[in-house]
Amino acid sequence: MNKIDVTMEKLVNLCKARGFVYPGSDIYGGLANSWDYGPLGVELKKNIVDAWWKRFVTSRGDMVGIDAALVMNPKVWEASGHVATFTDPLVECKTCHERYRADQIDLNAACQKCGNKGTFTDPAAFNMMLKTWLGPKEDASAVAYFRPETAQAMFVDFPHVLQSSRKRVPFGIAQVGKAFRNEITPGNFIFRTREFNLMEFEYFIHPSDWEKYFEYWLGEMKAWLTFLGVADDKLVFHEIEDGERAHYSKRTVDIEYHYPFGLKELYGLAYRTDFDLKLHMESSGKDLRYTDPKTNEKYLPHVIEPAFGVDRSVLVTLLEAYCEEEAPTSEEGESATRVVLKLPKSLAPYKVAVLPLSKKDELSSVALKLADDLRTTFTTDYDETQSIGKRYRRQDEIGTPYCVTVDFETLTDNAVTIRDRDTMEQVRIPLTELKAWFAEKLK
Ligand code: GAP
Repeated sequence: MNKIDVTMEKLVNLCKARGFVYPGSDIYGGLANSWDYGPLGVELKKNIVDAWWKRFVTSRGDMVGIDAALVMNPKVWEASGHVATFTDPLVECKTCHERYRADQIDLNAACQKCGNKGTFTDPAAFNMMLKTWLGPKEDASAVAYFRPETAQAMFVDFPHVLQSSRKRVPFGIAQVGKAFRNEITPGNFIFRTREFNLMEFEYFIHPSDWEKYFEYWLGEMKAWLTFLGVADDKLVFHEIEDGERAHYSKRTVDIEYHYPFGLKELYGLAYRTDFDLKLHMESSGKDLRYTDPKTNEKYLPHVIEPAFGVDRSVLVTLLEAYCEEEAPTSEEGESATRVVLKLPKSLAPYKVAVLPLSKKDELSSVALKLADDLRTTFTTDYDETQSIGKRYRRQDEIGTPYCVTVDFETLTDNAVTIRDRDTMEQVRIPLTELKAWFAEKLK
């Protein structure tokens, strides 16, 4: 069995054909770099987000969640520094007016679009905040911004959360949701888009503990990536140097991944100090300090921030799961090469597929009833079209861990055949034991 490195073209085609991710607004010619999650993509994404929430929020006593408004008071973004400094360096080709991020191209090379050399403008700071106007007037008083990160709500809501949850430092506030950035050069499928999903938390600590918690959360981020199925040798932990970090960070480690299009950022871990709470305290005039109930020390907590892109999580999970294998035995005359998504079972969109061996009523009625019953506990697909071999391959391509075949013997022995996605081994299990068998295998 060989695992080959998947190309983006193969992955994008599979995602479109099987309903993971489609080009957005496609019937109108699309909208550049916008993508829609289809029926399987939405399940995979939701499974990833739910697993993250369970792991980092509900299964921990030191974490709570919020779900804040996407558009916040513009004063939040003035105080946080985003209005002034959330910029990328923009250059434009003087000949064809194509725009680039200055830090992503060789400014001495030819323009990638028109081929002319030495024609770039000097880099200018381009603000990535996506602006809008609230209400009927489109004037300066109505300007608002779609949030470029979810983090600020965790700082702004800090006193409410502290008071209502009665948590004590150290503790974290987590959020999952959309963020918007007017990226100069979006691209590479769902890697960089102008509208994306973030899972992040702010972990509030005593300033003297920051090194300990930075290392701790780095370890937890690594463990999460192992859970997603990401191989260690695909990752690089990049310590960001002074002068290269975001305006708010005193230490940043970017977790980078070897994508088919190069080594690029997957997640980030930042030590934001008390940068944000301090600015919001000054700007709002509200006291955001924390009083330690044991020592009575009054201080602004510092913050460690692990930030996980949801769409990049989906992308690396798919890239790591994609396999093209030489099947040892060809099933029902199918080709000897099979494409299989070896997704972690808990993340697979469908856990089970029920496949009657024939479309005859006597089998399909049993199979349909079985699928409905399984569906109450496990996400279950049903397929009765084409040969059983083709149906196995279809389920392999979408990562379904188990296929259940209902055959004529089922009518007499009340048992079904289960085929394992990864080993292709088959076992016969009585119908009465089926749910317990899956519960054990899928836990
Ligand atoms: N609050 C910290 C923060 O937002 P960031 O490094 O700018 O940090 C966090 O973004 C994560 O969001 C990145 O590590 C990446 O996974 C994801 N991300 C950032 N920009 C993105 C974009 N344009 N499209 C998709 N994901 C993006």
